[in-house]
Amino acid sequence: MTSGEPVTAADLVVVANRLPVDLERHPDGSTGWKRSPGGLVTALEPTLRAREGAWVGWPGVPDVDVDPFSEDGLSLHPVRLSAQEVEQYYEGFSNATLWPLYHDVVAQPQFHRHWWRSYTTVNQRFAEAVAEVAAPGATVWVQDYQLQLVPGRLRELRPDLRIGFFLHIPFPPVELFRQLPWRTRIMEGLLGADLVGFHTDGGLRNFHWLAQELAGATTDRDPELIHHGGRQVRLGAFPISIDSKQLDQLSRTDGVQARVAELREELGNPSHIVLGVDRLDYTKGIDVRLRAFHELLEEERISIEDAVMIQLATPSRERVEHYKQMRDDIELSVGRINGEFSRVGHPAVHYLHRSLPREELAAFFLVSDVMLVTPLRDGMNLVAKEYVACRHDDGGVLVLSEFTGAANELTSALLVNPHDTDGVKEALYAALTLDPDEAVKRMRTLRRQVLDHDVDRWARSFLEALGLEVAAPE
Ligand code: ADP
Ligand code: G6P
Repeated sequence: MTSGEPVTAADLVVVANRLPVDLERHPDGSTGWKRSPGGLVTALEPTLRAREGAWVGWPGVPDVDVDPFSEDGLSLHPVRLSAQEVEQYYEGFSNATLWPLYHDVVAQPQFHRHWWRSYTTVNQRFAEAVAEVAAPGATVWVQDYQLQLVPGRLRELRPDLRIGFFLHIPFPPVELFRQLPWRTRIMEGLLGADLVGFHTDGGLRNFHWLAQELAGATTDRDPELIHHGGRQVRLGAFPISIDSKQLDQLSRTDGVQARVAELREELGNPSHIVLGVDRLDYTKGIDVRLRAFHELLEEERISIEDAVMIQLATPSRERVEHYKQMRDDIELSVGRINGEFSRVGHPAVHYLHRSLPREELAAFFLVSDVMLVTPLRDGMNLVAKEYVACRHDDGGVLVLSEFTGAANELTSALLVNPHDTDGVKEALYAALTLDPDEAVKRMRTLRRQVLDHDVDRWARSFLEALGLEVAAPE
């Protein structure tokens, strides 16, 4: 990172709750930067870097003022949040109200007026920060559920801007959205954009209906166009993706190959390795897959010589109650399975609660025979696509929840309903015993899809729908 370089007004501005890097405080008092967690950063960072844009966001730590700085072509503009705002706007309204509500209420959302007030204050601050950074006539791309009021506020401050909004999580069914006491304000905030993007047509249709119902928008025959406040708002479905070629290349490097051999050895050369990789979130269905694995061991259909399981979990939102509870539940399950089935030096489940470097993650993807992706609800799920991108050997079997956005594209995976424990168990067993020719055929089809539909294609299609002429980056 090079800080203190002059930062000029930008023609393309991304605004997201988080910057792509988090400020890190070391025990000796010094500070550094580390990559931020989650799929939004994975997807947007390479594409924005290639276009030399500006990124406005929170540096991940409360009560710090950081000057704008640039890094490798990307200019970063930190927005300050107080400790109280982190509690009320981020942990509260964003992650204990909107997150569960938009994920089919798999946990009960909480509605608190002081959280909402904090959300409006912080959204106003983000809009003001963008208004300062954006060049005249610039394009601003607002990201995700934490900033749904930003398009409306920004339009009031800077009517010259072209504003796009993309939602990285599901847009909920009509009945669920209507529970929100501030539903009309949110809808009007989003309608401040010129283009509102979703992962799937389902989300788009829900939004289309609610815009008329709640905000008095009018529509004609075009399902992707809305008229509101004398303006037109375009809607679109843009399934997000990853930098698949980069990951494919990374997985072919000597370093990753050597690590794969080493990992298999370290795991005691089991016949099969089953993998889960997630941010530690209750929407991801980590409990579902542990239950399926546990029952297969109990029923003696598999043994730990046949299969060991690895669960990698990035720490996430650790002060939010539902997350604390879920972590305890998962760690209890892992302990139970290991207590019953492990042998000394050979655990049934290997559980790492930490974030790993990309190379290490690629090695885990490559060493695994079965990848379990079992969310109860997920906007897309990039982990599923990363697994496929890493399998240049055409090996491995992907078991994928029907309730992820990725399931619309990755139809050659073994698709499962995560609410059906027997179904998940049978799918895991089927994956472990799948005919090798059939497995290769499925993986080849998956790879064609993931390598063709990469994140740059996603970004280009969104920006073109927003009216920008976009060249593919060199
Ligand atoms: P979400 O955005 O909800 O976190 P995604 O699956 O779309 O879910 O994206 C998660 C991102 O976080 C992926 O890029 C994945 O590789 C990364 N990730 C998940 N777990 C880990 C881990 N333990 N170490 C490093 N990266 C991880
Ligand atoms: C998901 C959300 C992102 C969020 C990420 C990590 O990908 O869609 O908006 O940044 O999770 O969550 P966090 O709360 O740590 O930013």
